[in-house]
Amino acid sequence: MSDIAVSLKDLTLAYGDTVAVPDLNLDIHRGELIALLGPSGCGKTTTMRAIAGLMTPTAGQILIDNTDVTRVPPNKREVGLVFQSYALFPHLSGFENVAFGLRVRKTPEAEITRRVEAGLQLVGMAHLADRKPAELSGGQQQRLSLARSLVMKPKVLLLDEPLSNLDARLRLEMRTELQRLQRQTGITMVFVTHDQSEALALSDRIVLMKDGRIEQIGSPESLYNQPQSVFAADFVGYENIFAVLPSTTATPDRCTIKNPHGQLQLDYPVAADHIAWRPTGVVIGSGGHHGTVAAVAFAGQQREYVIDTDAGVIKADIDASVTPVAVGDTIRFDLPLSSARLITAQP
Ligand SMILES: Nc1ncnc2c1ncn2[C@@H]1O[C@H](COP(=O)(O)OP(=O)(O)OP(=O)(O)O)[C@@H](O)[C@H]1O
Ligand SMILES: [Mg+2]
Repeated sequence: MSDIAVSLKDLTLAYGDTVAVPDLNLDIHRGELIALLGPSGCGKTTTMRAIAGLMTPTAGQILIDNTDVTRVPPNKREVGLVFQSYALFPHLSGFENVAFGLRVRKTPEAEITRRVEAGLQLVGMAHLADRKPAELSGGQQQRLSLARSLVMKPKVLLLDEPLSNLDARLRLEMRTELQRLQRQTGITMVFVTHDQSEALALSDRIVLMKDGRIEQIGSPESLYNQPQSVFAADFVGYENIFAVLPSTTATPDRCTIKNPHGQLQLDYPVAADHIAWRPTGVVIGSGGHHGTVAAVAFAGQQREYVIDTDAGVIKADIDASVTPVAVGDTIRFDLPLSSARLITAQP
């Protein structure tokens, strides 16, 4: 067997005349936890629906375990789906909710009991198996809906923003839980989120999507540290992004950077189309640039500065132990090459 669990080949997905996903190619490895990340409307749910068999592609193929399932109905694909809404049956106990799919499949009673108990155990819900959904918290309901999918032993488990209904603490807890479940069961998981920190924390690989296309694909580290485009850089927190105007023969050791609001001179040349800094990469209190502090926010470890400059707003995060500068004061800042990300358009 190859190690590819799901293969999307030249996949085009449309709603009537609206093409949501044009020509997508993606291989998902067996046992991988892969995140589809991207802004609202970029085609994440559409891609998941196609893998699950809930929509028919306009063109292209979907392979699961090397078998073409493009025309196979959803219930024959062995794909599990967990959505943001838990869609549990309100009148059934936790146990019966998890058992439901197995009963539909006419699984023998003893095996149902065994698998449901193991599934509930896996998500830490064995002690609450008798409760109905209304008697459970959001996180507990989400665990049940996970167990319900897991007991079916799907070849692929699709999770569409499964944590977005949970409060911040539960989200973090379930994030760790999901990762553990994935390691423990070895099930291939495709996880949709528009929360970059969630994708970074959870996944083996991230697929960053934009307008139905793959903008960048790779490990969380590579996406975070080496975004290949302005879009990707912006998405992973390079909040200060500029286009680079080429140095002239008169200024070989300098360059000008610009954004829609204005421009700044750097005292070094830059060989790239764009240059970007995270707020943590901007130095304040020294350097050759000046600006006015427009806002300062205390954020625990650091203080977040918004500085008005000749090129609009620059965001800078400084260790909170440094004495703050008051709003309205003039401040010096530096945009060092050492903390910059250079981006050159791919051919
Ligand atoms: N039923 C539909 N009919 C027509 N267009 C649709 C339909 N569902 C989605 N679309 C369009 O397809 C595109 C992709 O939508 P999709 O739901 O896949 O986005 P998404 O990445 O999941 O976004 P979100 O993060 O908001 O859930 C969007 O432009 C959307 O407007
Ligand atoms: Mg969606």
